Amino acid sequence: MPELHQHVPVLLEEALRALRIKPDGVYIDCTFGRGGHSRSILQNLSQQGRLYLLDQDPAAIKIAKQVFADDQRVQITHESFANLLEMGESLALRERVDGILFDLGVSSPQLDQAERGFSFSNDGPLDMRMNTTTGESAAQWLARVPLEELITVLRDYGEEKYAKKIAAKIIAEQKKNAITTTKALADIVCSCYPAGYQGIHPATRTFQAIRIYINQELTALHDGLQAAFELLSNHGRLVVISFHSLEDRIVKRFIRDTRKEDVPKNLPVIAQASEYLKTVGKLIRPQQRELEQNARARSARMRVAEKVLV
Ligand SMILES: C[S@@+](CC[C@H](N)C(=O)[O-])C[C@H]1O[C@@H](n2cnc3c(N)ncnc32)[C@H](O)[C@@H]1O
Repeated sequence: MPELHQHVPVLLEEALRALRIKPDGVYIDCTFGRGGHSRSILQNLSQQGRLYLLDQDPAAIKIAKQVFADDQRVQITHESFANLLEMGESLALRERVDGILFDLGVSSPQLDQAERGFSFSNDGPLDMRMNTTTGESAAQWLARVPLEELITVLRDYGEEKYAKKIAAKIIAEQKKNAITTTKALADIVCSCYPAGYQGIHPATRTFQAIRIYINQELTALHDGLQAAFELLSNHGRLVVISFHSLEDRIVKRFIRDTRKEDVPKNLPVIAQASEYLKTVGKLIRPQQRELEQNARARSARMRVAEKVLV
């Protein structure tokens, strides 16, 4: 199978168990990547089952088509899960889906291929777009971003302690020479950290922040979760694997907030929503065994919820 093993799926057994696959059920994998989770879902589906899979990265979709194009149970869509509701409605999937999976963030090929511009360890063009067919690259954005906006992005999406200093240095360097490579950006960030600093690579948070901004990841997540809530059937399962606290917080709050009816705040009514997401089990983290085999699972955490119609 071409390129399928370039990404080791994270929390695979746990996610499959949480989805509680029914052989004739309808499932959506919102983040195909290299199809690790999709393949396992398919192994549990009968010929009547259906798997809709999407990814916003054309390289992922190319692989999906090579591997699954002949499988009649599979429908492949190049799309952001930000547009999941439109997609689901056009396919008449509202309240018909038995399980929806989000395995957030970037895939190993995205990180490992220098030309994608996600990695401070592999020098490449400063791109960072998951969907390479549209939008602004990180280099184009850095060429025009005002100082205050850059500080906000580094702080809010990177929780970067040295946001002000790094942003000022980026803008100053940008005036001398356009910042067009991952190495140039990483070098600037490193120069803003104190000598003798020990900890994660200094560029980690800046790269995370810019990547989140360029791909509008948090807005997409919120829209994707809302869509999933609407598409799930009664007792349908939502499974979300996230890789940093910003994402996890959004998932946790989203699940919790579906329990509240949208009533004006001044009314003394404690209403129960007519449909909501019920948390299933506790936050799940990878077992030691998985961490030993896949260092990239390190920061993974998974939340599971079930849709309940009252
Ligand atoms: C961690 S990987 C998924 C790996 C996959 N579960 C596997 O086992 O191969 C995340 C994938 O989600 C995709 N992605 C991230 N945000 C997305 C979005 N808003 N819409 C669609 N795909 C997205 C990325 O392009 C990447 O391929």
